[in-house]
This record gives sequence, structure tokens and C-alpha cells, in this order.
Amino acid sequence: MNRKNQNKRREFLNNVCPTVAMAFLGVSLLESCSSGGDDADIGGGGGNNGGGNNNTGYTKNGNDVTINLNHSNFNKLHSDGWFNLYQEKILILKISSSSYRAFTGSCPHQGTHTAWSYNGSSSEFVCGQHGNSYKTDCATAGTGGVLKCYTSVLSGSSLKVTKS
Ligand code: FES
Repeated sequence: MNRKNQNKRREFLNNVCPTVAMAFLGVSLLESCSSGGDDADIGGGGGNNGGGNNNTGYTKNGNDVTINLNHSNFNKLHSDGWFNLYQEKILILKISSSSYRAFTGSCPHQGTHTAWSYNGSSSEFVCGQHGNSYKTDCATAGTGGVLKCYTSVLSGSSLKVTKS
């Protein structure tokens, strides 16, 4: 590049906004903002397509998530005995038709919330991300420690889970 062209380029870069200049130089601002978080959707048990309204079978109000147990999105809770409401990072375990237990859906190890499975014979949730297991009695440590339980209150077909 000769001196005249270099000066034109310098003048152009001095007169455009920084975003355009960055684009001109081939630097993506979006790339520079990437955090590389843990939200990769790697699948896992029992999720639904929810978003927190009546169409999805649950509603949110602050820390409370109220689930309509009769909604078809929660059929797997009844057939499988557990459910990963991953949109709200809540795991639900069906103890009986009148008893449910709720847990954080964020793995205590590194926060993955989409790789859960349930091992009924050992009463453990297993996080497939690194294989740690968690007992479901809200007290006993598994290989990854204790999985935090949330308060849940059953009222008819409504299960209110308070995340705290
Ligand atoms: S993030 Fe769950 S075992 Fe590592």
C-alpha cells in the first residue's frame, strides 16, 4: 500500500464511528462479548417447551413457580416420576400422587441444568455433564454433595415451588 492510500485509510478510520472501524478491520464486537457460559443445550431428561405462562403449564411470580400438574407438558412427571423444568432450573420428583419434592436444577458442581437423569433404584439424580450424583432426600450427600431442596406446596393440582 503506497503512502497516499495509507493516508486515505487513516483518514477514513479517523472519521467513522468505532463500530464501523472495528467492522472494517474485521473485528466482531459480538465475538468480543461472548462469555462461553454453561448454557449449551446438551439434552437430558424430561424437559418441556415452557416459558412461564398458562400455555406452558406453569406461571412465575417472583421466586414462586406454580405448576399445573394436570397440564400435558407435565405428563412426563407422572409417567417417569421426575421432571426437569430446565427453563426455571427446577427438578421435580414425584414421591406419590399427593407428594412431590423440588430441587434446584443447577448442578452444584458447575451449574449445568440440562443433563439430568434420575436413577430410581438408588434414588439419585445424576448430572451427565461430569457424572456426579445427588441423593433426593435433601440431606444426604452424593458424589457431588447435597442437592438443594426448594419448598414446595401442593394444593389440588397446583404445585407451588419457591426458589430460595
Ligand atoms: S456440572 Fe454437573 S457434574 Fe459437573
